[in-house]
Amino acid sequence: MENPSAIREIMTIVADYEKHPEKYPRPLIYLAGGWPQDPPPPVLREAARELVEDEQAFNLSARYGPTKGEPDFLEAIARYEEAIWGRRVRPGEDAIIVGAGSTELTAAFMLACMDPGDELILTCPGYLNYKRQAEVEGLLQLRVKWWPVIKGHEYEPDPGELSSLITDRTRLVIVTTPGNPDSMVMPDDVLNGILDVAEEKDVWVMVDLAYRAFFFGEEPGYLSRPRRENEIAMCTFSKEFRIPGWRLAYAIAEPELVAAVNAIEQARTLCPSTPAQRVLTRAFSSKERLKAIREYYDAGRHRYAEVAKLAYDALVDAMPKAVPLRPQGGFYVFFDASAYDESSRRFCKRLLDEAQVALTPGRDFGMEGWIRLSFAPTVERPELISEAMERIKSVL
Ligand SMILES: Cc1ncc(COP(=O)(O)O)c(C=O)c1O
Repeated sequence: MENPSAIREIMTIVADYEKHPEKYPRPLIYLAGGWPQDPPPPVLREAARELVEDEQAFNLSARYGPTKGEPDFLEAIARYEEAIWGRRVRPGEDAIIVGAGSTELTAAFMLACMDPGDELILTCPGYLNYKRQAEVEGLLQLRVKWWPVIKGHEYEPDPGELSSLITDRTRLVIVTTPGNPDSMVMPDDVLNGILDVAEEKDVWVMVDLAYRAFFFGEEPGYLSRPRRENEIAMCTFSKEFRIPGWRLAYAIAEPELVAAVNAIEQARTLCPSTPAQRVLTRAFSSKERLKAIREYYDAGRHRYAEVAKLAYDALVDAMPKAVPLRPQGGFYVFFDASAYDESSRRFCKRLLDEAQVALTPGRDFGMEGWIRLSFAPTVERPELISEAMERIKSVL
């Protein structure tokens, strides 16, 4: 309570903008939230309509299902993994568990992997919620250690450095690729290096693939190669399928670890949403539908890459003293704005008050002086980026 998340604080201001627009000089341009606003693949509506129109199927979908996911959905996920990502889920070696969003599932994995006093290693910068989750789940008794992956203005994750952070209390490392807030892509050799180090030291590595449908260059091999023994692939439909409100995700991990997470989830959630699983099972039911999803992802990847470029170029023009990382994937341009203000919260507040543009302070991701611009909310209206940057330019 004493340390609220900046994103949640901005959300409160945004809600006020929406409810009382008359209080503000002009409409807000919202570049703070990391969620897509383009519509989900059309096959989702088709599948949902089929379920609703079949009275018996609809009524049956109101029931509880198995904790780790419905068997038909688990099979459908294996089909989806193979058809879309080229990854074969190997019976006996890999197990899948479904969760109510990856936030919830990540928390269950934290509980399965760690005891009080254990250590969790997170990248710096990194997705701000992991630390909060570790605090909540571990009742503040877990230790979080930061592994710096940006040196100066370069993305340089060094597995050797990670190795020196690991102690006999370290249980879990979480990496995100493409990253949030940095939109950097972890190269194959670096992720393999991390997995080698972690395997030797008996540590789990969670690879958060929330943004895997948004690689702007070549897709790295770790999306399709067989899962390494100590690797947990965390996948969510929130971003790639554009359904964050449906709360549906899954993880692929070692079967015994999944059995432990399943036991935890029996006590926490009972089961993920049955209607959501049944709609997606239908959406993944045929080769044609999977092909349509693949095409939707390809088109989306191009669109996001274009908007990423536009956002980067407009930012360089509007804020010449800022040093941005050029996005390699994901939803963000992450930039060093310390030449304008050392305090990222104060600077974001100023841009909100004077330019009516909402950005997110980097401090919350572990990098003071930096700022995260999310272009995801504008992919349907990229002209908003240009307008936002014009406003910022005139304020500065
Ligand atoms: C890296 C990362 N992981 C996980 C999440 C949350 O995903 P979910 O909607 O599946 O809980 C987010 C949301 O922004 C994210 O950026």
